Amino acid sequence: MTSSLFDLTGKVALVTGAAQGLGRAMATALAEAGADVLLVDRNETGARETAATLAQLGRRAVVAACDVSDPVQIRELFHRLDTEFGRIDFLGNVAGDGILGTPEDIPLEDVEKCWRNLVLGRFCACQEAGRRMLAAGRGSIVNIGSLASITALGRSHIAYSMAMGAVAQMTRELSTEWAGRGVRVNAILPAQVINPGLQQRMADHPALRDKFLSGIPAGRFGQPDDIKGLSVLLASDASSWITGALIPMDGGNLAVNAGGSVGPGGGDRRQGTGDRKQESGDRKQKSGSKRK
Ligand SMILES: NC(=O)c1ccc[n+]([C@@H]2O[C@H](COP(=O)([O-])OP(=O)(O)OC[C@H]3O[C@@H](n4cnc5c(N)ncnc54)[C@H](O)[C@@H]3O)[C@@H](O)[C@H]2O)c1
Repeated sequence: MTSSLFDLTGKVALVTGAAQGLGRAMATALAEAGADVLLVDRNETGARETAATLAQLGRRAVVAACDVSDPVQIRELFHRLDTEFGRIDFLGNVAGDGILGTPEDIPLEDVEKCWRNLVLGRFCACQEAGRRMLAAGRGSIVNIGSLASITALGRSHIAYSMAMGAVAQMTRELSTEWAGRGVRVNAILPAQVINPGLQQRMADHPALRDKFLSGIPAGRFGQPDDIKGLSVLLASDASSWITGALIPMDGGNLAVNAGGSVGPGGGDRRQGTGDRKQESGDRKQKSGSKRK
């Protein structure tokens, strides 16, 4: 049973990128908390699989094929929302992917394509949802950003990084414009969450796995389900005074300095379990160590 603070019964959510990964997990979490969901993706087959899961929860789940880099398709999508549901309480702007290329060589067409997908698509959906939410005097929007919204990744991420930086500013500007009229806008900034593209890149460049993990103090990659709690929190009244926030979902990545070390004395927690950490903490207390 969902606590009333987090209850989404009777609410309508629109989630893009709902065919797999973070979008599917977000949509599932919202439905588990009681919401009906419009599932949006260019991969209609995947979105239908998500819908089948949600239907088993007893929620209404409608699938809409849409390429979010095309504003015409997004506007049609919102007309469909009006017809099918007649309201929107939550927008999850999740769909998207990056295009890699070095700053000196990437074709401008690729930069524009990436920007259309991640910036124009998210903004157009915010605009359409925002108009309806402002008219209703309530609503919550979550934009998925990235570590690349506020830090540099290198490794040919220039187009993606510039786009995700814009997503951070979009979130701050919209929250500032709309907070006084009942509409909240927040962003979630994930670190590396396992998906097919990430797995392929680590298969192509095996050293990347350790490189990524060395930046995650929690000692593991994210899983799509890691977004479930934040999704329900941000969609629900439990977060009614949270807006304009860029919330890391990163196992501690953004907190740690590049020269920092995980654990006392630079130990690597990936080698051990939480229990071992507790044991070493116990040992330290017993020996009265005052390591600084
Ligand atoms: N996974 C990570 O490590 C990570 C980290 C930071 C940010 N992100 C961002 O989070 C979002 C979701 O990531 P994920 O791991 O779930 O990715 P994913 O590749 O597993 O899923 C992305 C989904 O978005 C859909 N999509 C992509 N472009 C689309 C478009 N133009 N129109 C409609 N649908 C489109 C795809 O079909 C797919 O279903 C992406 O924007 C990604 O950039 C992911």
